Amino acid sequence: MGQAESRHITPTRIIRTSDDVTPTVLRAMSNTPNGRLRTVIEAFVRHMHALAREVSLTEAEYDLGIDFLNRIGQATHDSHNEGILFADAIGFSTLVCLLNNGNAGATETAAALLGPFWRANSPRTENGGSIVRSPTPGRELFVACEVVDVAGKPLANVEVDVWQSSPVGLYENQDDTQADMNLRGKFTTDSAGRFSFRSVKPAGYPVPTDGPVGEMLRAQNRHPYRPAHLHFLGFKSGYKTLITQVFVDDDKYLETDVVFGVTRALVGNYRRHDQGEPPAAGVHAPWYTLNYRFVMEAGEAILPKPPIK
Ligand code: BEZ
Ligand code: FE
Repeated sequence: MGQAESRHITPTRIIRTSDDVTPTVLRAMSNTPNGRLRTVIEAFVRHMHALAREVSLTEAEYDLGIDFLNRIGQATHDSHNEGILFADAIGFSTLVCLLNNGNAGATETAAALLGPFWRANSPRTENGGSIVRSPTPGRELFVACEVVDVAGKPLANVEVDVWQSSPVGLYENQDDTQADMNLRGKFTTDSAGRFSFRSVKPAGYPVPTDGPVGEMLRAQNRHPYRPAHLHFLGFKSGYKTLITQVFVDDDKYLETDVVFGVTRALVGNYRRHDQGEPPAAGVHAPWYTLNYRFVMEAGEAILPKPPIK
């Protein structure tokens, strides 16, 4: 074919209008050898393009979105994870959690979002021991739990991480007045699948609002509070790692958790005791007790990447 002739050929794969963009991008990605990666990224592209069309996204809004995303990354460091906080605040973490636990979300499940405050290497603590590692004023709390499989059989030797906020609503990594690893511990279930510990009653708290997620919440007229809760992570070979939280039943934010973590199965019975024999010497009324039973499903024991160091 001569030069003059070829100039008249219009290549068919060059984008002409906005209608051509999505199929062109999907075609460019169609040779991705990893099938799962291809499925996920293709769906991401289709949904992002559909979003831009649905809302007729302006260029100024596009710039704002990119800036928001960049600032989420810039606000993330060793002791804070703004990316997880964003996923939590738009309900994405809870959705993914419930889709992957409790019969693909069909049944009430014992799982809940990890949140941004889990740290690996919590101090090993003997059953019945205290996770209060520096003076922490508050109501005393005695927690006794059992871990069973789906048939109700007790599971021994489950490693259970526990972490919680203080009675003023701060995790130790957010609060210089608390000792390192205060209100965190790692327990091992005994032959009856039980573990227990002593602590203080947690308080609800606002999620960090000094970054992009805080801006979003203010723009949406949303409060930033989580209802009080204890976090648990159960790990045992042959069982799906159980990541969960047990919420304080009389908390005023139970129905409006800013990160949508509360499910009915996770509302605990934190019993208040005003009289009677205290569970340990020197305990003053009122003190609280919590009993809870965790069910672990068979599956692969995988630990999440710690959101902070
Ligand atoms: C938490 O429970 O630790 C948490 C979860 C989501 C966002 C912020 C904190
Ligand atoms: Fe928490």
